[in-house]
Amino acid sequence: MALLSVQNLVTEFHGPGGTARAVDGVSFDVNAGEIFGIVGESGCGKSATCRSIVRLFGGADARIAGGSVRLDGSGDLATLPERELARIRGRDVAFIFQDPLTALNPTMRIGRQIAEVVERHRRVSRREARAIALQLLRDVHVTSPERRLDAWPHELSGGLRQRVVIAMALALRPRLIIADEPTTALDVTVQDQILRLLLERCAATGTAIILVTHDLGVVAEICDRVAVMYGGRFVETGSTATVLASPRHPYTRALLSALPSRAMRGKPLAPIEGTPPSLTAPPPGCRFAPRCPQAAEVCRAGPPPPLMLHDRAAPLHADACLLEGVR
Ligand SMILES: Nc1ncnc2c1ncn2[C@@H]1O[C@H](COP(=O)(O)OP(=O)(O)O)[C@@H](O)[C@H]1O
Ligand SMILES: [Mg+2]
Repeated sequence: MALLSVQNLVTEFHGPGGTARAVDGVSFDVNAGEIFGIVGESGCGKSATCRSIVRLFGGADARIAGGSVRLDGSGDLATLPERELARIRGRDVAFIFQDPLTALNPTMRIGRQIAEVVERHRRVSRREARAIALQLLRDVHVTSPERRLDAWPHELSGGLRQRVVIAMALALRPRLIIADEPTTALDVTVQDQILRLLLERCAATGTAIILVTHDLGVVAEICDRVAVMYGGRFVETGSTATVLASPRHPYTRALLSALPSRAMRGKPLAPIEGTPPSLTAPPPGCRFAPRCPQAAEVCRAGPPPPLMLHDRAAPLHADACLLEGVR
């Protein structure tokens, strides 16, 4: 049975410009210990999908308008009372955001912050919590961990801060870590180290990861399965190897051709023409149709096509394109 099962999720953001359906009927499963990637251009609903899982909308006027989010052993997180959901956040599901500074309290020393997370969920003394915090800093390979316990967040580099955030996420041995572009805000030189660290620690504890990225190269290297998101919907999903070797949806193909390959190094990327659709007033039919080089009349008529299985040899590979004959 899946660790996490998301069915027909619909999430809406309310703003002065109207209601944006940032997630519009998304379904997926994540198995224990699995690394599940979500990839797509900026603004397509990746963060909204992640935030919906534990209803962490950061003050935005957002709500889950439909669907269910089942975590093995818990009720439907989409409708669970806030008090019970608060217990699940951190204990079963931890979140790592793009910017480590937003996750840290600037007025509290590093050691105390990690210890507080531990104390909140486990019956330990302050001393024990501090010892656990020290061990966690060691686990994430922070050098001079004893000294760092007493450091303030602003005294650390971005990479070190994200290590601390990972230590806090791991503190309670969650079953799932949702990492939303965890390295985007960091120097290129440390991005790889941080990703590797996250993988190493999750492999050691059997923790599953939902990894959001706009980088298909990262997906290729790290993820077991991947979902390609466009305009609030998943347009293709399957094992990473299958999706990258035999992409079906024209949007996945466009993303892949924008990817720098060895042969292309130094040459400009092929950008995808046009802009992503508005989620307040999305186009009818396939949301990629206005930018799709192969779009036909049927693609522009509503409703948007559902994810469909095509290939019996790769039964978990599905895509949402109507133009079977074209491909
Ligand atoms: N705080 C917010 N207030 C209003 N609308 C939002 C907010 N955050 C996201 N949205 C809407 O949700 C859409 C998807 O955003 P997001 O999930 O952050 O995209 P991604 O993570 O893929 O870049 C946005 O295009 C916007 O329409
Ligand atoms: Mg995002």
